[in-house]
Amino acid sequence: MTNDKIIQMDMGTSVSGARGTVCLGIESSCDETSAAIVDSNKNILAHIIYSQIPEHQRYGGVVPELAARAHILAIDTVIRETLARANMTIDDIDVIAATAGPGLIGGVLIGWMAATGIAQSTGKPLVAVNHLEGHALVPRLAAATADDSAAPVAVEFPYLLMLASGGHCQILLVRGVGKYELIGQTLDDSAGEAFDKVSKMLGLGYPGGPIVDKHASMGIPRAFDFPRPLTDKPGCDFSFSGIKTAARTFLSKYDAPYSNEFINDFCASFQAAVVDCIINRLEHAMKTDAVKAAQPKTLVVAGGVAKNSAIRTAMEKLARDNNMIFAAPPMKLCTDNGAMIAWAGLENYKIGNIVREPIAPRPRWPLTEL
Ligand code: KG4
Ligand code: ZN
Repeated sequence: MTNDKIIQMDMGTSVSGARGTVCLGIESSCDETSAAIVDSNKNILAHIIYSQIPEHQRYGGVVPELAARAHILAIDTVIRETLARANMTIDDIDVIAATAGPGLIGGVLIGWMAATGIAQSTGKPLVAVNHLEGHALVPRLAAATADDSAAPVAVEFPYLLMLASGGHCQILLVRGVGKYELIGQTLDDSAGEAFDKVSKMLGLGYPGGPIVDKHASMGIPRAFDFPRPLTDKPGCDFSFSGIKTAARTFLSKYDAPYSNEFINDFCASFQAAVVDCIINRLEHAMKTDAVKAAQPKTLVVAGGVAKNSAIRTAMEKLARDNNMIFAAPPMKLCTDNGAMIAWAGLENYKIGNIVREPIAPRPRWPLTEL
């Protein structure tokens, strides 16, 4: 791992006002090795994301063993370089935080052991961050509107959260740090998985979400009649496997290679079905007793799929129609990153949630078990 390679992944810095508590956050649960230094005044002092995507691309998805090896090779350089960019040494850091699950356990272990080593050798407090909580809380570090311009307000508890990533698809009522009430979830695939699989079927590559999103913006959403599973049923759960099967059935009637126009229309139609499912389920969520009683003022989307422009735009309208404010993380903080782990670390540190005895990282760790 050379410094040149990671320099291209630098996210830049933004500093305003005084520095509060300073946290070094480490993320390694999937195919990004990332570290960030964030302070409690919401300054991102340095942030490096080393993406392994090129290493997995030829296999059409993340290969866990390759990911773990790439994390081992990258982690030291990523941490050192992040400190250097902030013009800091480890002495300037107040808190260490790292993802302790859920995720690919080989990768999680590498980031977690690095963080544990730093904490033990320096005597600094250590926070075990749930990766999903990183996604869930990052809009409180930085929020944006659908078009990625700065959101006018800070995201306060409670808020209604659509958490959509490669591994998860859940609607949650976020009452506070560590306080998540599950309102609905997918019964099969996650939204990100559906995007990735459809991209693969079309021979478009990995990760599929951004590729399908781009083609969809050039296509006709009603060209193919995709189903909207469960939208005629009560409740807030999702099912994406029917949409995926419909995609396979449609494609079996056409011969590859597909024309650009075909791909654009196919992606637009698939994406429109996903958007309709998300909006329908959120509408139901807003009518549940739990959500009505909590009266969340903000509707939030987070996770890698929150980068999707059609989903952001549709959710912004839904929020407006229901007198709610819409907020999403800025685009660069939607997919996996160290800043969200540093921020979740700070939020947990503030309430005294630090590691007091050795813990085992967890491949599965639902938000409702915090
Ligand atoms: O949160 P994330 O970086 O990793 C997990 O924790 O899983 O999410 C990755 C997922 C992938 O499935 C990727 O295809 C999807 O987010 N994604 C998108 C977009 N950008 C990334 N899905 C739809 N539209 C996008 N623009
Ligand atoms: Zn993630």
